[in-house]
Parts: sequence; structure tokens; C-alpha cells
Amino acid sequence: MNNFNFHNPTRLIFGKGQIDQLKQEIPKYGSRVLLLYGGGSVKRSGLFDHVIQNLESIDAFVIEMGGVEPNPRLSTVHKGVEICKKEQIDLILAVGGGSVLDCAKAIAAGAKYDGDAWDFFTRKAVAQDALPLGTVLTIAATGSEMNGNSVVTNWDTKEKLGWGSALVYPKFSILDPVYTMTLPKNQTIYGMVDMMAHVFEHYFHHEANTPLQDGFCEALLRTVIETAPKLLEDLESYEHRSTILYCGTMALNGVLNMGYNGDWASHNIEHAVSAVYDIPHGGGLAILFPNWMKHVLDGNEGRFKQMAVNVFGVQPEGKTDREVAIEGIDALRAFWNSIEAPSRLADYDIDDSQLDTMADKAVMFGEFGNFKRLNHKDVLAIYRASL
Ligand code: NZQ
Ligand code: ZN
Repeated sequence: MNNFNFHNPTRLIFGKGQIDQLKQEIPKYGSRVLLLYGGGSVKRSGLFDHVIQNLESIDAFVIEMGGVEPNPRLSTVHKGVEICKKEQIDLILAVGGGSVLDCAKAIAAGAKYDGDAWDFFTRKAVAQDALPLGTVLTIAATGSEMNGNSVVTNWDTKEKLGWGSALVYPKFSILDPVYTMTLPKNQTIYGMVDMMAHVFEHYFHHEANTPLQDGFCEALLRTVIETAPKLLEDLESYEHRSTILYCGTMALNGVLNMGYNGDWASHNIEHAVSAVYDIPHGGGLAILFPNWMKHVLDGNEGRFKQMAVNVFGVQPEGKTDREVAIEGIDALRAFWNSIEAPSRLADYDIDDSQLDTMADKAVMFGEFGNFKRLNHKDVLAIYRASL
């Protein structure tokens, strides 16, 4: 186990009716609020009205900005930055999914920066300050509600890049499972794949002596596997929505990976696909992750065997480590198939015409991945296996 220094400053406010906590939280950071949301689901679900009622009750000055895209775009970040500067915004309130939250983070840092917020993503600049940010989450998926990461697409250059800063952890995040009940089946599936993928990105590392960390990861994966079919049978189950919402946050808030670094190659490979084809992040991961696993299996059979046995209940007796490992990877694919996640790039009408372009994007900062270093050739092989 490596040394670590853990600090997560986000106040997590979870459960039915917790939206009214906005009245307590907002005034801590000021009264001029940029209210950011997506394509309108928050209005249809009634959440927007509850947010407005709370803001009105504390006499907040509110500027609304809707229209944040799934896979949020840099042009939208620019628009938000301009509003924050012009209107002297004190606080950003992001209401929606990971895309709205990620966009808000880039706006928060961009509002305190003289250059282009894209500089943070290209590593040209390091953010030195940011506006405070609060969130009301409507989809269990990214963990953005309790981490300092943001992923944005520059549609002009077709680059989708992630960036992170301790400055943009939300000050508070309100998670009421009731507001996730309107999430359609396909997005519910993508979200569950995404949170499982986050655990896998942690789990595949070479650090010795991480038994508790492994146990946390395995328990989270088993919980999603057990809950997913029940939730998909009953999308309005408060119980199952709560379980999945909590899983999504815990999968990427730093708690699972104390004392070691994860891999994150599959995310990089997926972001390159989304950059070109604008597909849902979780859908892309469902296609690519098992193929990454098979690609990096050689020499790492032990770790995959552990996953197979502890997560998927594969019986190891009388089998080689490799056989058990492959059974585990196949069990993951079978599980994702069973919940109707996509399994081939062809499911999104993606053929082999842009594979090179995507691989170029994936290696734009050089070789990557901690569990196994990957180069252009490796990425191409994973794309080809995913066609
Ligand atoms: O835009 P609206 O109308 O709100 O509709 C959204 C959107 O179309 C809809 N939706 C969200 N909550 C809903 C709802 N519809 C009905 N009822 C609700 N309660 O769902 C669609 C997808 O929303 P989005 O925010 O895009 O989904 P998600 O939370 O999966 O976010 C995906 C983005 O996050 C990035 C991804 O790359 C992608 O750009 N990621 C961010 C991470 C982070 N910050 O840590 C890590 C992740 O690995 C990921 O890369
Ligand atoms: Zn993800």
C-alpha cells in the first residue's frame, strides 16, 4: 500500500426531500447564482420547480442557463464563463447529470481565469481559483457529484478531454433518489455500466496488500450486479434507485483507491470514441472494457481470477488461472448483455473507417494506462476487437 493523503471536501446530502437543504447551503456561498441544467429533463420531472422555490425563499438572484449537452461542449463552457464574469456570479448550482456537473466545474474555474478554460484540459494551464459549486444530481453514473473531475468535448477539434482540480469539488451535492426515477431505461443502464467501469479502473493495479480496498471494490460490483436487474424491472423503485445512486458516488469519490493508483486506460479509449461519434459514455465502456481486459490479460491472470471468483462466483477448482480469468471476463460480458448494454461498436453504427483517428486521439499525451502501458497499436487492437 502506498502512502496517501485523503481529503474529500464535498458535503453529501442524500435522501428523499433533501432538496430543501438548498436553503441552508446556498447562502453560505453568496446570493448571485448561476443555475445550470441540461436539455429539460429537470423541468419535466418537477425538480426545477423545487429548486426555484428554494432559491426564491432565500431571495437569491438567479440567472438560468439550460441546454448543457450530454457530453458537454466547450462552447457551452465559454457561454457560462461569460455569464459568470458579466453577472458577478457567487455560486454555480448545477442541476442534472454528470454532463451538467462537469460543465459547471469548467465554468467555475474558467470564471476565475483570463485565458480559455480549454487550457486546463490541454494541460496548458493549471487552475488557480474557482467559483464555489453546488450540485443536485439526477443520474447515478459518473461520481462527478463528489469528485474534482470534469470531461468536456471541444467539438471544433473533436477532442474529448478530462481534467481535475481540488478547486472544483462540489461544496455540496444533493442526491434524492426520487429525482432519478424519471431516468429512462437506456440511461439507467449506461450509468450502471459507468460506475462498474470506475471500479474496474481502480481494481486493476499492481500494488501489493490492498485487501480492504479490494473488498470494497468487489462489494460495490456485486451490489450493482445484484441490484441492476431488479431496478430495470421497476425503474421507480426508491429502494433500488437509492442503492444504485449511492454506488455511483462511492465508485469515484476517492474512497475506493486509497493507497494505490488505478489504470484509467479504458476511459481514455472510450473518450476518443465519444469525441468522434458523440456516443453515450457508459455505452462505449460496455463495448470496450471486456476487450481491454482480454488485451491485458497475459501475465495478469491472478488479478482477473480474483475478480472472477469474488465478483462473479466462478468456481476455480480444476481450472487453470487463465481459464478462470477468461470465465470471469465472459461473465462480465454476459451480465452487461443481460441488462441490454451495447456490446459492439456496430451497435452505434461505427465501422472501421475512423479507428486510426480515434487511436491517435487516445495517445495524444503519449502511452497511457497503469496496469499495462498501451500504445497506438494496442488501442487499435482493442477497437478492432470491439467492431
Ligand atoms: O439533458 P437532460 O434533459 O437533463 O437529459 C439527460 C441526458 O440526455 C438525461 N437525464 C439525466 N437525468 C435524468 C435524465 N432524464 C430523465 N430523468 C432524469 N432524472 O440523461 C442524459 C444523459 O445525461 P448525462 O449528464 O450526459 O449523463 P452522465 O451522468 O452519464 O454524464 C456523462 C458525462 O460525464 C463524463 C462522460 O464522459 C460524459 O461526458 N464523465 C465524467 C466523469 C467525472 N466527472 O468524474 C467520469 C466519467 O467517467 C465520465 O467520463
Ligand atoms: Zn466513466
